[in-house]
Amino acid sequence: MSILNIAAIQTSPVFGDVSGNLDRALDLIPGGCDLAVLPELFATGYQFRDTAEAAGMAEEAAPGGAGGPIIAALTAKAAATGATLVAGLAEKSEAVVYNSAVMIRPDGSREIYRKVHLFDREKEVFRPGDLGFPVFEACGAKIGLMICFDWIFPEAARSLALAGAQILCHPSNLLLPWCPAAMVTRCQENRVFAATANRIGSEGRTGQRLDFIGMSEIVSPLGDVLGRAGREEESAVTAAIDLDAIEKQVTARNHIFGDRRPDQYRL
Ligand code: ACM
Repeated sequence: MSILNIAAIQTSPVFGDVSGNLDRALDLIPGGCDLAVLPELFATGYQFRDTAEAAGMAEEAAPGGAGGPIIAALTAKAAATGATLVAGLAEKSEAVVYNSAVMIRPDGSREIYRKVHLFDREKEVFRPGDLGFPVFEACGAKIGLMICFDWIFPEAARSLALAGAQILCHPSNLLLPWCPAAMVTRCQENRVFAATANRIGSEGRTGQRLDFIGMSEIVSPLGDVLGRAGREEESAVTAAIDLDAIEKQVTARNHIFGDRRPDQYRL
C-alpha cells in the first residue's frame, strides 16, 4: 500500500489582504498531511480589474524566479510541515501575467502550471498558459496540475492522466455549479484521484457580482467522493488515499487507455 494523507483547503479570501489570506489558509492545513491543495488565486483574491493590477500582486513563481511573499510563505510552510503544497497565484514572467498554480515540495523545490483555459473576464487580465499539462513527482506520487475551468475540457484531465498523473491537483475559484459532479466523471474516465480546492464568499469589484460555490472535494479513481466541503465554511477536506488502488483495467477485456481508438476520433 502507498498511502498518502491529502487535503483540499477551502478558504474565503478577502481581495488584496495577502497576509491575512495567507495566514488563514496555511492555518487550515492539517498536521500529518503529505499533500495539500489550496484554491486558485488563494492569497490575493480573484477579481483583478486589469493586467496592471494583477501584475502588482503577481510573483515570479516559476522555478528559479525571485518569488515574493506568497512563495516565501508556502515554502516555509512546506518545510515546517513536510507537506507538498499546491496553490494558485498570479505569476509574473517578464511583462506577462499568468493565472498559475505552483507546487512546492518540503525541500523548497517548486514547479509551475499556467492555466490553459481562461474563464470569462480572466481573458482580459491573464495570458493563456503555454506549458501544456505537466506532471511532476512529489511525495512519492505523480502529480498533475490543472486550474478551475480546465475541468470543462476533458482533454485537460486526459492529458494529465495519459502523462502518468495519479493525483489531479485542482486549485479552483468555481462559479458554475457543475464541476463537483464533473470531477467524479473525470476521475472515473481516467482512473485517477482528484483534489479540487475551491473558495467560498463573493467578490464584486468590476461591477459583476461573483458568488463562489465551495464544495471542495477529494474523489477516488472509481468516482467515490471521499470528502466534500459545504458551500459556506472555510474547512479542510481530508482523505487517506492508496495509490495502489489505481486500476486502469475496467474489465478483463477493457483497459481505460489501451482501448482508446485515436484513429477513429475525428473532428
Ligand atoms: C474559474 O475558472 N475560476 C471559474
